[in-house]
Amino acid sequence: MKPALKMGMIALVGICLVFYQYHLSFGIRVDQIPALKFDLNAGQPPDGPDGIPVNSDTYGCSIAHQKLTEEMIRYAVDAVRKSNGLGPEIGVQLTEEILNQLNKLTIGNRGKDRLLSQTPAQTTINSVVAAADKFADENPLYVITPTYRRPEQVPELTRMAHTLMLVKNVHWLVIEDAHTPTQQVTDLLQRTGLKYEHLVAPMPEQYKKKNGAKPRGVSNRNRGLQWIRANATSGVFYFADDDNTYDIKLFDEIRTTRKVSMWPVGLCTKFGLSTPIVKNGKFIGFYDGWMAGRKFPVDMAGFAVSVKFLLERPKASMPFRPGYEEDGFLKSLAPFNPSEIELLADNCSQVLAWHTQTKKNEPSAALDKEKYASTNLIKLKQQIV
Ligand SMILES: *[C@@H]1O[C@H](CO)[C@@H](O)[C@H](O)[C@H]1NC(C)=O
Ligand SMILES: *[C@@H]1O[C@H](CO)[C@@H](O)[C@H](O)[C@H]1NC(C)=O
Repeated sequence: MKPALKMGMIALVGICLVFYQYHLSFGIRVDQIPALKFDLNAGQPPDGPDGIPVNSDTYGCSIAHQKLTEEMIRYAVDAVRKSNGLGPEIGVQLTEEILNQLNKLTIGNRGKDRLLSQTPAQTTINSVVAAADKFADENPLYVITPTYRRPEQVPELTRMAHTLMLVKNVHWLVIEDAHTPTQQVTDLLQRTGLKYEHLVAPMPEQYKKKNGAKPRGVSNRNRGLQWIRANATSGVFYFADDDNTYDIKLFDEIRTTRKVSMWPVGLCTKFGLSTPIVKNGKFIGFYDGWMAGRKFPVDMAGFAVSVKFLLERPKASMPFRPGYEEDGFLKSLAPFNPSEIELLADNCSQVLAWHTQTKKNEPSAALDKEKYASTNLIKLKQQIV
């Protein structure tokens, strides 16, 4: 339990207890209070039971008080949810958990001293904190990053690691196109403190020998899918290459994915942009500089998929077909149609992912180890892949 989260939970339960003590004097249970009966995340007008508006003062509570409490609980649940890296749906479940706990308290204390003792409050905090922890463990964001040994590898992964270190509840699957893992990458991953897997998945020989464009990263991404099928039950996954640039806002958006979500990618193709086209909040087509007869002309960095959705499609995988990897994978998720795409980034009106590319560097020349024996150069050279 992170200290910030714990403080958030304590504040939240504190608010609930004030709320509870206030309403105890009216002899009603928490779930009978109209202000709490509507979906705390949906922001609907607060109607009481049988459509009685809460501001009719049915239970003798002041309007201002109810509005304040409701806002406070919504705000607190949201803060706790975000600080633990959880999607908005979890907020609803967390709220339910809090209400359940408060009801138990109310029932347990009826007829007793109306002031709460420390013990049930502590029990409530513990159980709500445990619920938040459980939701976080069960709903990670899996980031699948294919990579390969080259001079830019460590700096690219360093930049990406720093982005992911700002993201809560993320599990990074770093998969090298190699027979053995690169030591410098292993060292970097250990230093980040991130939850990660370091795997290898070499491109099959038959594709390596081919002339022209090669299906790079396919065997890595399929290895990532294999890991998810074996080890994940819920959450969301995203194919994130190590040379792109990601706005950290993107990762919170991705968490809401129920099936497949999409958003714009900048610096992509000759249009400088690849994105679903959205009109009046509805998907009407794709904008991409290379359509090539694809059903899903999108960039690898432009979509995320729910783990459950993948697990329901045991045959889904990425084809070894250069240029058609995204299209082939999304088609393998059938039944799934473009009309079902969840449009993120404010109806696809913001660029939160950039298809940046690094300048290629020549492999470095060997170091004269005799001439530079016992100098810093020996150690430095070991860090250059
Ligand atoms: C699942 O996770 C375990 C434990 O980390 C690992 O040993 C195993 O290889 C993973 N399964 C796959 C298919 O990657
Ligand atoms: C997307 O657009 C629709 C229609 O204009 C609107 O109702 C909806 O609130 C928008 N969603 C977001 C997240 O901006």
